[in-house]
Amino acid sequence: MIGERARAIDRGLIEKAMIEGNAASTSIPAEPLWYKDAIVYQLHVRTFFDSNADGIGDFQGLTQKLGYLQDLGVTTLWLLPFYPSPLRDDGYDIADYTDIHPSYGTLGDFKAFLNEAHRRGLRIVTEIVLNHTSDQHAWFQEARQSRDNPRRDWYVWRDTDDGYRQVRIIFTDTEQSNWAWDPVSKQYYWHRFFSHQPDLNFDKPEVVEAIWEVMKFWLEIGVDGFRLDAVPYLVEREGTSSENLPETHAVLKLFRRRMDEHFPGRIFLAEANQWPLDVRPYFGDADECHMAFHFPLMPRMFMAIRLEDRKPIVEILNQTPEIPDACQWAIFLRNHDELTLEMVTDEERDYMYDAYAKDATMRLNVGIRRRLAPLLEGDTRKIRLMNGMLMSLPGTPIIYYGDEIGMGDNVHLGDRNGVRTPMQWTGGWTAGFSLADPERLYAPVVSNVLYNPQIINVDSQSRSPHSVLSWMKRLIRTRKTSRVFSRGTIEFVHPANHGVLAYVRRLDQEIILVVNNLSSRAQAVELDLRAFRGSIPVEMAGGNIFPRIGELPYLLTLGPYDFYWFRLRRL
Ligand code: BGC
Repeated sequence: MIGERARAIDRGLIEKAMIEGNAASTSIPAEPLWYKDAIVYQLHVRTFFDSNADGIGDFQGLTQKLGYLQDLGVTTLWLLPFYPSPLRDDGYDIADYTDIHPSYGTLGDFKAFLNEAHRRGLRIVTEIVLNHTSDQHAWFQEARQSRDNPRRDWYVWRDTDDGYRQVRIIFTDTEQSNWAWDPVSKQYYWHRFFSHQPDLNFDKPEVVEAIWEVMKFWLEIGVDGFRLDAVPYLVEREGTSSENLPETHAVLKLFRRRMDEHFPGRIFLAEANQWPLDVRPYFGDADECHMAFHFPLMPRMFMAIRLEDRKPIVEILNQTPEIPDACQWAIFLRNHDELTLEMVTDEERDYMYDAYAKDATMRLNVGIRRRLAPLLEGDTRKIRLMNGMLMSLPGTPIIYYGDEIGMGDNVHLGDRNGVRTPMQWTGGWTAGFSLADPERLYAPVVSNVLYNPQIINVDSQSRSPHSVLSWMKRLIRTRKTSRVFSRGTIEFVHPANHGVLAYVRRLDQEIILVVNNLSSRAQAVELDLRAFRGSIPVEMAGGNIFPRIGELPYLLTLGPYDFYWFRLRRL
């Protein structure tokens, strides 16, 4: 009897723990290099699905949509910051690193979400914004109390605003200086981003320890990795640009050492919007970050498809240094920010503005605040080609939420909010995002003629095998049939026709040939494939066999924006 009662109590406790999400996090079978084979989906909890009809997406809502993401075929979710925050930079202004913004749910909801994601084999990468906090964070509130407060030098203070003169301003449309006056303690504080985001002082060992405690908190709960926001700017030094300093790398290496020691298998993804040669040190000798975004590749993909010329892509990849085997580039077409044009020349920037942002409202800071589909004029051929390249160029691909259905944007919403509108699930008033009245939503659903939810939504696209969504699922499935895409080398083929971008991906005995027509017109191309004489190309989407490769140049014809992936079969 007693035993039975005890068991019943145990069961009850376990159920309660499950409901509250407090059960130990289920984990996915260990695979140390999982991030190299991942297909990442980037989303914001706020924008995805609202479970309690308050007009704001939340963790319970996201948990309900995990089946959709699993079915899409992605393997890892990267979540934008979901911590308590005044939301003046959509959560990148963190007021408390170890809790959940009440609009999105509770820590229990987060744990339940994480367990369910892991149960479905999905890994979760979250954000650590380590360069700065919100000015509402308790650390800053203390620091500004007085000049002799023990937390004072957790931030960077000066009597005048003329220090670090060589440092550029990042949010050029809002900020005139990287110093802001604090009327409470009557000194200036340093900030690389908005003035309400004071930079932490990483010269202070206590700050390093405090951020490590934050990491530990989330790693113990079970997250699989962190996107490290704005990493180049951790440390500043007079007389330098204060970007990518050795002291910054030392801090990152310390975090990596500790994470490897206590939480093997978890990863760092560096956000360093820099040239490939300057990003290279963020990988270290495989002892710093596991992954880093390839920022300069992204605008060049848009340039190439507009110029109908492969040169921008080939050039930047040829300038990209080798990285350690255990490391990986993270590649993407769009994200939650403006399409950044920091990593292009002045001429290229003018070209990009002219080609993709004629209307000045589309421009923001040094970039373009538009989504993938509108940038590509809603042309599904171009949407497919760009995604085809995303899935076949070297690196781990990241899909920005909504781009898998070709969602539109609203450039009139201010800042970057136009690319962060509610996910469009159905053709209803609120796009099936929420049961709240449309006017209560955290942001209006896109309502223009081309991209409103009646036209673009998950529900209708799920019913058509020919929709962008169904096609994306097939593309992802095909990519997952081979590790060549995620781990193989790349060699370019150099046909005379510059409208065609062709490359060979190779891993051990496996060889895949990718041929992309970047042009709006049909093209014929002759490829020198003599190195593969005797092989038979098998087109991977349809499984059809193409003529055997011989001595002569291999002739292919491609319709506008067509592309093929061929597995080369040796007989
Ligand atoms: C994020 C931005 C954010 C900035 C400041 C970044 O690089 O991607 O969305 O505004 O950091 O936190």
